Amino acid sequence: MQDPGFEQRLAAVAAAVEERLQAVLADEARAGEMLRPPRLTAAMRHAVLAGGKRLRPFLVVETARLFGTGADVDPLGAAAALECVHCYSLVHDDLPSMDDDDLRRGQPTVHKVYDEATAILAGDALLTLAFDLMADDAVHPDPAVRLALVRALARAAGLGGMVGGQMLDLAAEGRFDGGAPLALGADAVRRLQAMKTGALIRFACEAGARLAGVADDERARLVRYGEILGLAFQLADDLLDATGDAATVGKATAKDAAAGKGTLVSLIGVEAARGALKDLVDEAVGLLDPYGPAGETLKATAAFVAARRR
Ligand code: IPE
Ligand code: IPE
Ligand code: MG
Ligand code: MG
Ligand code: MG
Repeated sequence: MQDPGFEQRLAAVAAAVEERLQAVLADEARAGEMLRPPRLTAAMRHAVLAGGKRLRPFLVVETARLFGTGADVDPLGAAAALECVHCYSLVHDDLPSMDDDDLRRGQPTVHKVYDEATAILAGDALLTLAFDLMADDAVHPDPAVRLALVRALARAAGLGGMVGGQMLDLAAEGRFDGGAPLALGADAVRRLQAMKTGALIRFACEAGARLAGVADDERARLVRYGEILGLAFQLADDLLDATGDAATVGKATAKDAAAGKGTLVSLIGVEAARGALKDLVDEAVGLLDPYGPAGETLKATAAFVAARRR
């Protein structure tokens, strides 16, 4: 049973980050912009504001809170930036040329409500907006910290991170050789998942530690927690795909097996995957032991990731 205090905190951070996102996705152009095409802005709002657990923003905020930050630091700004990258990744992931999905967060996907070209551009604009938000003076008073965040986000999101992982994911389905799905081993699957999903979750924890200005070894511990959480998160996603129903999960299920996708679930089976998930959560929780009661929220986050139904 999840601690009701945890659920309340998750909902409070989600509401706060949504307020930010709503504000930055207003129709009016911001300084330096010429005009916001209404159809594009509306598509971006659909991508960002139509639900979502806001787990990555929560991790930014809670990791920063674990160590504490000055009043002149704005974890919510960094959290909103990261959520823009995540939402862009979902819009593009759902495109007909990618996973071809019609349902996301219980709603029709962006290319269904609008059209494919608008969905591509909405994703592009969200990715760019993310760096605009992360570079904002209000995020952290020290420009060197903002620069480090921008660079770390770029590395997490790009070629050797999320986008690279998406490429490996499609390759694993046998998309590019016209052949059968690749028979990946567990290590290759884990690396692919660490990239496509883990990189942004890892970054969320890194960002909180950078905002708090903690020493390198402390940051490394939280980054490790983020890596484990990322693997747990995708393992839970694959379990939901294998065992969940679309009405609860809010997106189509039973797609991985149909695509012949190599996941840990397909490699080791549902029961063993549940065991592996539990081990990952235990490992993530163990990393937080040194923080005593202050670590409880992030421990509960690991439990939440494993137990989630959507
Ligand atoms: C879905 O992420 C995509 C994966 C990386 C598996 P989430 O499950 O966090 O999606 P939302 O934001 O809550 O809709
Ligand atoms: C997507 O993995 C990861 C990213 C969007 C980067 P999936 O394709 O499994 O995610 P869902 O199941 O569509 O959310
Ligand atoms: Mg995908
Ligand atoms: Mg998908
Ligand atoms: Mg999935």
